[in-house]
Amino acid sequence: MALLEVNNLCVDYEMKRGTARAVNDVSFKLEQGETLGLIGESGCGKTTTAMSLLGFVTPPGRISGGSVIFKGKDLRSFSNEQMRRLRGESISIVRQEAQNALNPVLTVGSQIGEVLREHGVKNNREIEARVDQLLEMVGISPERKKSYPFEFSGGMRQRVMIALAAIAEPDLMILDEPITGLDVIVQRQLLNLLSDLRKKMNLTALLIAHDLSVIAEMCSRVAVMYGGYIVEAADVKTLYANPIHPYSKALIESYPRIRGEKKKLRSIPGAPPRLLTPPDGCMFADRCPQAMEICRKVVPEQVLAEGRLVRCHLYTGEAAHAAE
Ligand SMILES: Nc1ncnc2c1ncn2[C@@H]1O[C@H](COP(=O)(O)OP(=O)(O)OP(=O)(O)O)[C@@H](O)[C@H]1O
Ligand code: SF4
Ligand SMILES: [Mg+2]
Repeated sequence: MALLEVNNLCVDYEMKRGTARAVNDVSFKLEQGETLGLIGESGCGKTTTAMSLLGFVTPPGRISGGSVIFKGKDLRSFSNEQMRRLRGESISIVRQEAQNALNPVLTVGSQIGEVLREHGVKNNREIEARVDQLLEMVGISPERKKSYPFEFSGGMRQRVMIALAAIAEPDLMILDEPITGLDVIVQRQLLNLLSDLRKKMNLTALLIAHDLSVIAEMCSRVAVMYGGYIVEAADVKTLYANPIHPYSKALIESYPRIRGEKKKLRSIPGAPPRLLTPPDGCMFADRCPQAMEICRKVVPEQVLAEGRLVRCHLYTGEAAHAAE
């Protein structure tokens, strides 16, 4: 049994101007110990997908369909109290721009201590020892526990957020752009830290990133999102060597390669569709160099092709039917 199984998940934001479906028929699995990467342009639904797993979708957002099965149980049937316990014990998240989420008027040590108390550690001496140990684990000298967040660099604050997310030794850690906005040396240090933790804690992780090289380094499988859909999902090597969805191809071609043949970089012309007024057919049709007539009329189903899941009429057989 997979640790996490997401089936046909749909999330809507219901606003005065209409309903925007930010996550559409999304399905994926996470096996124990694996790291799955989620990648795609800004606004394609990565954070909303992550938040759904933790029950953090709040109005105007609403999970409107599908299931989230964690350790065999459907989280959509959990009470608020059960969800709260799950977030404390089993699934934790390092949120996008988390480094700005620390309380500015409390020392770093007291904030870690507070979370430890919430997790049932009552004895003050034990709390002190655990704070030191957690700071050390993320590469910060325990002497710095009396500092305030503003005395820390962005990278150090992010290390603290990773320490907080690791407190409960969760089964699943969601990392939403954990290194975005930090300089490259700090990014490298944080990636090394996350790799070490993953091995030490046998972590299962969902890693959201813009950066293809980060996904390639950290993940065994990757799902590419566009306009709320997963458009291609495959093991990392297969997808990078031979992407087959036109959006994945464009995404990979638009990214600089450090090794191997140097290709001319391409940007993807056009912009993603407005979710309030989505097209009738494929979300990528307006930008796709291979778009066919059917693409503007029918939403492509997800199918298995060339050893991966893909959502594109080039592989559904619909185009062939339409031409008959
Ligand atoms: N609270 C909200 N109310 C209305 N719409 C929202 C809300 N949060 C997100 N959205 C919309 O849902 C869509 C998906 O947003 P989401 O934050 O999940 O994207 P993302 O892939 O994480 O983007 P980024 O890479 O910029 O973080 C976007 O079109 C966004 O405008
Ligand atoms: S379904 Fe059509 S428009 Fe969409 S990606 Fe495939 S070929 Fe392009
Ligand atoms: Mg996001």
